[in-house]
Amino acid sequence: MKVLVYGSLNIDLIFSVDHIVKPGETIASGALSRGAGGKGANQAAALAKAGMQVYLAGKIGADGSFLTELLRSYGVNTDHITVCGDATGQALIQVDKKGQNSIVLYSGGNGAIRVEEIEKVLANFGSGDTLLLQNEINCTADIMRGAKKRGLRICLNPSPLDEKALRLPLDLVDVFFVNEIEGAALAAAGEDRQDYGAILDLLARRFPSAEIILTVGKEGAYYGRGEYRAKGEITETPVVDTTGAGDTFTGYFIAARYRDFSVEDSLGLACKAASIAVSRKGAMEAIPLWEELNAGKIHAR
Ligand code: RIB
Repeated sequence: MKVLVYGSLNIDLIFSVDHIVKPGETIASGALSRGAGGKGANQAAALAKAGMQVYLAGKIGADGSFLTELLRSYGVNTDHITVCGDATGQALIQVDKKGQNSIVLYSGGNGAIRVEEIEKVLANFGSGDTLLLQNEINCTADIMRGAKKRGLRICLNPSPLDEKALRLPLDLVDVFFVNEIEGAALAAAGEDRQDYGAILDLLARRFPSAEIILTVGKEGAYYGRGEYRAKGEITETPVVDTTGAGDTFTGYFIAARYRDFSVEDSLGLACKAASIAVSRKGAMEAIPLWEELNAGKIHAR
């Protein structure tokens, strides 16, 4: 099985701050660093670090070549990343002293995907392969429809959630990765984001054949499909930077399932990988290697 991630690549500008800046306030940053990010690129990196054969399709500007080099060093196939006239996507990230973040995005190349390019990429994949999408590029609905026609299994992490994500052809999705805010919005659960069981029930009813994975930060992750439910717990680690934790979880859950781990073990491994990621600075660079998880048993096919 090949995994195609069709998604974003960003240059992350990370400002270490005492607290997230408030409206009208100017604050000093204790440190500034430039890192590799973008939800698509992070999830592709997580899959590769977990030992999967992964392809990333997306767009960068001339300033983004360090991203493709880094991704290649992790084993990601970057043949479907093209260079456009715009800048590479940029993420202005504030990380406070508790490791929480706040992100402003400039889409750049991530918003420059053209419909006619999609088929050329999808032609390299087929039945039995998996497509993983987020919500940081344009043309996502076209990619979903094209992939379904070719028999790919579609995983969607509709993040960052906006009106556009809610209008996607969600009935084509086989696996959803959502946090409590995204889950509540997709389930139309109103403001009651804390009742995770109710969110899962609503989502499982709305998408009866889909797998739903609901990540809830320190409270771990929940899984639902039809009537079946499972839960994974995080591993306690010091929180340095939560950026990319969800991306790490998503890549690792897919990889663990592919390696024949049970749903429960896959949730546990993905939570563990995300826990390690939050104990380190940065997004893509913070994602651990499979070996660091001490998974104990590996069922590579
Ligand atoms: O999920 C984390 C990512 O979100 C960051 O790397 C940033 O680039 C934004 O896309």
